[in-house]
Amino acid sequence: MAALRTVTTLQELRQAREALPAPVGFVPTMGYLHEGHISLARRARQECAGVVASIFVNPAQFGPNEDLAKYPRDLPRDLSLLEAAGVDLAWTPTPEVMYPPGFQTWVTVDGLAAPLEGAQRPGHFRGVATVVAKLFNAVAPQKAYFGQKDAQQAAVIRRMTGDLDFPIEIVVCPTVREADGLAMSSRNSYLSPDERQAATVIFRALSAAKAACDNGERDAETLRRVVSGMIEGEPLARMQYVSCADYDTLEELQTVTGKALLSMAVFVGKTRLIDNFVLG
Ligand code: PAJ
Repeated sequence: MAALRTVTTLQELRQAREALPAPVGFVPTMGYLHEGHISLARRARQECAGVVASIFVNPAQFGPNEDLAKYPRDLPRDLSLLEAAGVDLAWTPTPEVMYPPGFQTWVTVDGLAAPLEGAQRPGHFRGVATVVAKLFNAVAPQKAYFGQKDAQQAAVIRRMTGDLDFPIEIVVCPTVREADGLAMSSRNSYLSPDERQAATVIFRALSAAKAACDNGERDAETLRRVVSGMIEGEPLARMQYVSCADYDTLEELQTVTGKALLSMAVFVGKTRLIDNFVLG
């Protein structure tokens, strides 16, 4: 196994990038890596000759009352996981590298970024799209890997990539889950043991709605109610939103006809978790 090279500045990144064989696959992350992130790195390793991962907790995508300051970090562990997954190059820029003084250029995606996470987290996707555009410019990969866990993010990034003519193929990989169904997330580390147990209601609620859909229930409101009813039955959980939307446009559906995205955000204690299933 070749050693992982780690760089911080843009100049170092560009030099190290030049030396990588094509095609280059890129996995952007905010660190505190888990099997979900590593599955993206492994897929990139399978499909590409050179693999780059970035670790950057992007201040621009956190709201003023969100968890930027306490977002979990463990760089030494992250780097050893990336090395074990066969990643060639890790880029760990500082906030000053990404947002030097005077920074004032932003990437905004309109329609797809408006509902769901965009409605609950104003400015979130502006921060995501801006940092991913900058990462794409610097790394110049042929392929970039994202998780289905953040389905709207993947849709926003795919739109931005097309609209801004990045010659990059966006690959979306399946959600990796714990044995009891909870989607892996760096934020799961915030959960107390009781909350961790309660959080399994998310997967059970999505599974119940999917079963109803598989059994012929096509009324979107009924499917949303299956989810919200189960979440409300868990005292430690509080539903923020549940959506049953067209998979491509993310507009709320009345009736599930084609591919649909069933998604939600739930507070378990003070921790905000998101998850989704694809229906149809
Ligand atoms: P982060 O939350 O660290 O996630 C990095 C990538 O891992 C994203 O593409 C996300 O969808 C994917 N991922 C997270 N949990 C997953 C799981 N359980 N299964 C499969 N994939 C999973 O998403 C971000 O960082 C940031 O917004 C970023 C794109 C890096 C921009 O700052």
